[in-house]
Amino acid sequence: SEPLPFPPVVTPNVTYYNATTGYYCDYYEIEVKPFEAQVYPGLKKTRLVGYNGISPGPTFKMEKGREAVVRFVNHGDMDLSVHLHGSYSRAPFDGWAEDTTKPGQYKDYYYPNHQSARTLWYHDHAVHHTAENAYFGQAGFYILHDKEEDKLDLPAGDYDVPLALASKQYNADGTLFSPASETVSLYGDVIHVNGQPWPYFNVEPRKYRFRFLDTSISRAFKLYFEADGALGKQVPFHIIGSDAGLITKPVQTSTLEISMAERWEAVFDFSAYAGKNVTLRNSRDVQADEDYNSTDKVMKFVVGKTVKSQQGNGPLPGSLRAVPFPPTKSGVDRTFKFERQGGEWKVNGVTFSDINNRIIAKPQRGQVEIWELVNGGGGWSHPVHIHLIDMQIISRTGGRPVLDYEKVALKDVVLLGTSETVRVIARYAPWDGVYMFHCHNLIHEDHDMMAAFNVTSLGD
Ligand code: C2O
Ligand code: CU
Repeated sequence: SEPLPFPPVVTPNVTYYNATTGYYCDYYEIEVKPFEAQVYPGLKKTRLVGYNGISPGPTFKMEKGREAVVRFVNHGDMDLSVHLHGSYSRAPFDGWAEDTTKPGQYKDYYYPNHQSARTLWYHDHAVHHTAENAYFGQAGFYILHDKEEDKLDLPAGDYDVPLALASKQYNADGTLFSPASETVSLYGDVIHVNGQPWPYFNVEPRKYRFRFLDTSISRAFKLYFEADGALGKQVPFHIIGSDAGLITKPVQTSTLEISMAERWEAVFDFSAYAGKNVTLRNSRDVQADEDYNSTDKVMKFVVGKTVKSQQGNGPLPGSLRAVPFPPTKSGVDRTFKFERQGGEWKVNGVTFSDINNRIIAKPQRGQVEIWELVNGGGGWSHPVHIHLIDMQIISRTGGRPVLDYEKVALKDVVLLGTSETVRVIARYAPWDGVYMFHCHNLIHEDHDMMAAFNVTSLGD
């Protein structure tokens, strides 16, 4: 196999600074353009279209409080829209699916960067073409840091490793199979990490922080670490972060469930495996996903014998941060059913194309609401993403219980298992505006399992 690649960190074209106020704004330019990538040795290269001509796109590393404007220039051949997933962007900069940038045009997106530290990602959101665009390369990391988190001395620098998972399918000649005509799901049989199928990564025998992100169109993972010579034995590790940054305290686990668009951060300690290999694997009992010969493997860690730095290698802190959970309340404010009806994917019977009916909630700005998300059945799971807000999972019924690491986390995506009903609580703030919420199986999303809510000062 090939080594794990890392997308380069993007640098601003211009930085605006006001010495009187201490205000910073960084301006970036990203060009969406086609490029060729060799995935299969000896076969054809495949054509991809990515941010700055790479996939995943360049990584943004941002500091809380330092605003950014990013110009996305479309040098590809499809309309595009860019969503910064995990950011409470103002509605005009949130990547509304119909707010597309045509080939030859550009759009400037403003990002406030005032949220707490977290792993975000930016990806395409063009109406009816998100699956194709994201899968052919338009996805990348956007990592927000803050001072509180830096003080914790978690593994940093080379020991803080973003891992973008993806599952894709190729044609016999080595070119990437297009999801454009799929209407149900595309599970894929080739697992990529940071764009490379089943890579290896040389690590030191010490602690690492891994920022997992699932960029797949339809595949969810149940990850575990397995050491050479101990097949089938799942090595325990700690979950420390979720979609919305650090959770309240490290939670020990031996498996990590991650569905499309979710981010989970883990600390794994390789110190007991000097000179050995550790494999990151995917178990075969994930939701309705279809499995293939090698979808049980993700990547390999080749553990060296020396530790170069002890930074962040001490015991994990007992608590990580006071997560700002919304205040508790009872009852259910709104119920949304995610369901396939008459060959279409719908939310409460509505599709995104139904432009007169697709705004199906009007939360009052600043209010805390409990939403009940129901899987309407049929054997599909739906990772539900609500734009703008961070939510807490308060109950799961009809499937598994709320996982231990979910209990202490804020999220912006929640997996609705095949027959589950999940309740989530969130504060609908800080801005007014019309925002999308949808299934993040990108085939379902493109076939219109997407609706909108309108945050207003009045509510309804
Ligand atoms: Cu990650 Cu509406 O998307
Ligand atoms: Cu779905």
